[in-house]
Amino acid sequence: MKKCLICSSEVEKFIDLGQQPIANGFLKKEQFKSEYYFHMEVAFCPKCKMVQLVEQPDREQMFHENYAFFSSTSNYMKEHFHQFASSVIKLQSLKEDSLVVEIGCNDGIMIQNFMQEGIRHLGVEPSKNVAEVAKSKGINVTTEFFDVKLAEDTIAECGKADAILSANVMCHIPYMHSIFEGIEKLLKDDGVFIFEDPYVGDIIQKASFDQIYDEHTFLFSVMSVSYLAGMHNLEVIDTEYQITHGGSMRYTLAHKGRKNISDNVEKQLQKEKDLGLDTLSAYERFTDKVLVVKNDLMKLLNQLKDEGKKVVAYGATSKSTTVTNFFGISPEHIEFICDTTPTKHNKFSPGAHIPVIPYEKFRESNPDYVVLFAWNHAKEIMEKEKEYMESNGIKWIMYVPDVKVVD
Ligand code: SAH
Ligand code: TMP
Ligand code: ZN
Repeated sequence: MKKCLICSSEVEKFIDLGQQPIANGFLKKEQFKSEYYFHMEVAFCPKCKMVQLVEQPDREQMFHENYAFFSSTSNYMKEHFHQFASSVIKLQSLKEDSLVVEIGCNDGIMIQNFMQEGIRHLGVEPSKNVAEVAKSKGINVTTEFFDVKLAEDTIAECGKADAILSANVMCHIPYMHSIFEGIEKLLKDDGVFIFEDPYVGDIIQKASFDQIYDEHTFLFSVMSVSYLAGMHNLEVIDTEYQITHGGSMRYTLAHKGRKNISDNVEKQLQKEKDLGLDTLSAYERFTDKVLVVKNDLMKLLNQLKDEGKKVVAYGATSKSTTVTNFFGISPEHIEFICDTTPTKHNKFSPGAHIPVIPYEKFRESNPDYVVLFAWNHAKEIMEKEKEYMESNGIKWIMYVPDVKVVD
């Protein structure tokens, strides 16, 4: 029996994605033999409605001095976080002596905006290599994991925060009660805690199962976040849908009873009930859809292999680790994955061991088909590659929400 990480009730498993390696664990050939694997299954809690991984690697296996994800690789995301920061400055009327804390600031993509406005700030980022990039921009960063202890240390050193922010980090953290205890302490009486993460509603509707990987302990909904907040004297006062990462939700939380609650919250809760996100059957239907995608994509890739077509992939995303390992995609199907991140270059993808090469070589490679692993950046990437693809008759292969070949 497996217990819910939030409310300790018994959870119900709905998808088994098999043995999976560390999603960002790009590796060299000599490391193949010692590659770490864990059993990746996902469960739904019928009481607090939280969707969660059943088992997860230790945090130090995932977040360390060689973390392979640098936030600022996407120009679109830079603009997104610029707007996020501007909206917080306005909402909280932030001034130079206010305090903004960002949990998981990575290379500084969001918090740099507060620094540039001269606002007192602190980034919390345990992965040393990405934290160094933020520091080199002049951002104040502490290279530690956020938890209740760090919150207490921060209060002692800097006082309480007017705004605590986090993007694509909360869903990574299994020890959520320590985080929320820390938030409750660190947040000023009229402070706000705003975070955004991939939204379970989109994942279910688009069958985007590749949002499930080792780092994503939780797939949040307004229902489950409200339950969690309630356990720590906090409440959700606003929700705003975001198109980033294939569909995300931004949650604004405050101390209970301190701020007005937007109508958005009730509306979104109703939408979630309409989608059936409060019952197991919605998740079981999702599993059925994923199995169709698996079948369709493997049929297509096997057929292209038999025809001798050259198939490559674009974006060595963490998501692609789930796709390749669950579907059984090998270098026989996909010759290489191109990516703009230097630390991934001349290594192999986790588990499937597909070579990862610098983006520049993509333009010289002349493939017949390109599997878009970075489908969450489709707009930005397709615009960038339009001319090259069209003039060479190269086609995209997409698999979310279903398998299709796009000219
Ligand atoms: N906010 C950025 C980075 C997301 S990647 C963006 O949206 O692009 C997730 C980041 O969370 C990683 O840099 C990882 O090191 C960090 N992280 C993981 N656990 C954390 C914790 N307990 N406290 C703070 N950061 C954490
Ligand atoms: P993400 O899906 O987790 O944001 O990761 C995106 C990956 O795709 C990251 O490794 C960088 C890579 N990438 C490119 O190679 N080219 C691009 O144009 C973009 C936007 C991302
Ligand atoms: Zn629960």
